[in-house]
Amino acid sequence: MSEQTGTGEPVVPPDATGGLDPEALEAVIAAPGARFRHDYLEIRDLRVVFDGFVAVDGVDLTVTQGDLRFLIGPNGAGKTTIVDAITGLAPAAGSVQFGGVELVGKPSHKIVRAGVGRTFQTASVFDELTVLQNLDIAAGAGRGPWTMLRRRHVVPPEVEAALETVGLTQVRDLPAGVLAHGQKQWLEIGMLLVQDARLLLLDEPVAGMSQAEREETGLLLQRIGEQRTVVVVEHDMEFLRAFASSVTVLHQGRVLSEGTVAQVQADPRVVEVYLGSGAHGRGRGMAASAAEPAASTEVE
Ligand SMILES: Nc1ncnc2c1ncn2[C@@H]1O[C@H](COP(=O)(O)OP(=O)(O)OP(=O)(O)O)[C@@H](O)[C@H]1O
Ligand SMILES: [Mg+2]
Repeated sequence: MSEQTGTGEPVVPPDATGGLDPEALEAVIAAPGARFRHDYLEIRDLRVVFDGFVAVDGVDLTVTQGDLRFLIGPNGAGKTTIVDAITGLAPAAGSVQFGGVELVGKPSHKIVRAGVGRTFQTASVFDELTVLQNLDIAAGAGRGPWTMLRRRHVVPPEVEAALETVGLTQVRDLPAGVLAHGQKQWLEIGMLLVQDARLLLLDEPVAGMSQAEREETGLLLQRIGEQRTVVVVEHDMEFLRAFASSVTVLHQGRVLSEGTVAQVQADPRVVEVYLGSGAHGRGRGMAASAAEPAASTEVE
């Protein structure tokens, strides 16, 4: 495993909580090994309006590090728009804080620098370049002079680590274009890791993947989620049941339900949205799978 942070003993002894010196606390927060521990995403009253159409309507969302949060909801619920708003690609009102930094109003490149990375519904890697070159470019984005290192054929340690984490070490010299669909998605996730994204927002990462690739991806996200904050937008209910540690259900731009997989699937409002007339034909097959466990919960 490549993730190196968060190891070692707690810097503040447990019995020191009575009289914490704010400066000492600040030093702890700033310590390299501790920087991930205080990362969390806190969204308050997020609103996105497109020409008078309210796509996101007062969403509150808190996701802590170590939580693998799934965002689900029928087509048009506002899932991608929330990711766009967090990453500066949609006009947002309200507050989005990550690691204590307010993101609303910041341009996208500053949001990337604040440690926020996202993938899109379609993979966006450079097909003609090798896996290593794709990662190298991601490492160089907004950073120091990696060109020198590239010329010397030195693989930066974070690139090496990302290759290992996403399981692409063996194919690092192949053009990305020849990778299997799943491997391309993993490369994209690897690119976020070398960019040092501490909040990863993944928009339908397993769409089009084989069963085996889904399984691999779920395990990869669990691994990454141990030390980073991960939000997954997903329609695949089987994948969600297997890997989500918590779920937020969106409907018409609002949070409809939130909790564990079992809790949201047993929520009558969620069943209504997936089976009710309002969502007819929009759930890409989610309705049956969402309703099934809820129904069995009701029976017991
Ligand atoms: N740039 C835009 N301009 C106008 N309306 C938009 C824009 N982007 C999204 N919308 C609208 O906002 C609503 C939410 O869209 P969004 O793409 O966030 O849904 P979603 O939950 O991601 O759906 P899906 O599951 O289909 O990906 C939809 O009604 C969509 O048509
Ligand atoms: Mg979407």
